Amino acid sequence: MDPFLSLFFSCFLLTSGYIVVQASPHHHHHHHHRRAEHEVYDDHAFSRRPTKLFVFGDSYADTGNIRKSLGNSWKEPYGSTFPGKPAGRFSDGRILTDYLAKFLGVKSPWAYTWMKLGGKKLRNGMNFAYGGSGVFNTLGDLLPNVTTQMDFFEKLMNESLYTKRDLQSSVVLLCLAGNDYAAYVLKDGSVQGLQKFIPKVINQLTLDLKRIKALGATKVAVTSLEPLGCLPRMTQMSAFQQCNVTQNLAVGYHNFLLQQAVEKLNNETRTSTFFILDLYNSFTSVLEQKGDSQGILKFETPLKPCCMGINSGYWCGSLDEKGAKMYTVCSDPKSAFFWDASHPTEAGWRAVYTNLKSSLEQNLKSY
Ligand SMILES: *[C@@H]1O[C@H](CO)[C@@H](O)[C@H](O)[C@H]1NC(C)=O
Ligand SMILES: *[C@@H]1O[C@H](CO)[C@@H](O)[C@H](O)[C@H]1NC(C)=O
Ligand SMILES: *[C@@H]1O[C@H](CO)[C@@H](O)[C@H](O)[C@H]1NC(C)=O
Ligand SMILES: *[C@@H]1O[C@H](CO)[C@@H](O)[C@H](O)[C@H]1NC(C)=O
Repeated sequence: MDPFLSLFFSCFLLTSGYIVVQASPHHHHHHHHRRAEHEVYDDHAFSRRPTKLFVFGDSYADTGNIRKSLGNSWKEPYGSTFPGKPAGRFSDGRILTDYLAKFLGVKSPWAYTWMKLGGKKLRNGMNFAYGGSGVFNTLGDLLPNVTTQMDFFEKLMNESLYTKRDLQSSVVLLCLAGNDYAAYVLKDGSVQGLQKFIPKVINQLTLDLKRIKALGATKVAVTSLEPLGCLPRMTQMSAFQQCNVTQNLAVGYHNFLLQQAVEKLNNETRTSTFFILDLYNSFTSVLEQKGDSQGILKFETPLKPCCMGINSGYWCGSLDEKGAKMYTVCSDPKSAFFWDASHPTEAGWRAVYTNLKSSLEQNLKSY
């Protein structure tokens, strides 16, 4: 099977798992989000600590920006571990953004759509990531692409809510999990076209990286694409036994071009501003070891998600017309790596974070 055709399928499923059109007049949830800020963070290692975290990207990083009408992350049982009810995170609890903030020794930054709540929420940085988004538009104009997310940020800078100096002393996370490819395929993209589309995604991503550097960023973490062929949607056919190797090879092409682009950017600017946060290898390592590298977290059947639709027509969080749950949830989310068809549990992210830590230490030690 052509690797690009495989990539086509896996990406389609990545997005279809969580974009759901549902009529809902409510948009914002304020109260429970605050709890994210009360943890004590202590495992950073810097000579000069970064002051803020700015985040751009999609559901792997979104902590509450996506509209209620667009994300099942606003439905039960999302958020059951943390903060205790649905709050917009695509997991049972904490996600990559929260763990990166923990590493940096700052509180998890406020979600941009909630910033109207007060100036003091600017202190830890800002999260501009929207679930389902990409470098290009993925769902018409409904989800801000990375360019638009950066416009939001630039606007705050223009209003002097953040300064270039703030950005210079901060870390930026750009986290993209494959929605551009999903959207491309939905718009009738051909397999041959997709081969040309991958470099286009990388080119746009490179422009976005250049832009954030031009605004003042000195440390930018950009994620590699996770092994899409290991997502539960794709492994369901094998009863969650095996990753689709062909699809993962295709993901490798994206990651190879990304690696080249990052090296080129650093070389051109004679800096080490950009570094890759290697989700591909950290996911793979956790899945192969069935746990984290320290043996604290254990995932007996790592490819099987905690929360599943009762058949292929349903997904985690879906209800039928009478309001009956059309999904099942495992008894202990800590024992599962994947939460739903596409996203890790809090425990899953913690295990991934454990693997990323040495790379974070190495790349951020100049702070
Ligand atoms: C991998 O995924 C493709 C669809 O993208 C499918 O045709 C192929 O059979 C899968 N391979 C395995 C080993 O499951
Ligand atoms: C991002 O979204 C805006 C608004 O929809 C659109 O005008 C722009 O072309 C998009 N950028 C890219 C790179 O696709
Ligand atoms: C910010 O200000 C600059 C300079 O005036 C302008 O070029 C840019 O369009 C503004 N950006 C936004 C998003 O308002
Ligand atoms: C870095 O850039 C220089 C020119 O500025 C070039 O000669 C060299 O090959 C580049 N190295 C890499 C690894 O891209």
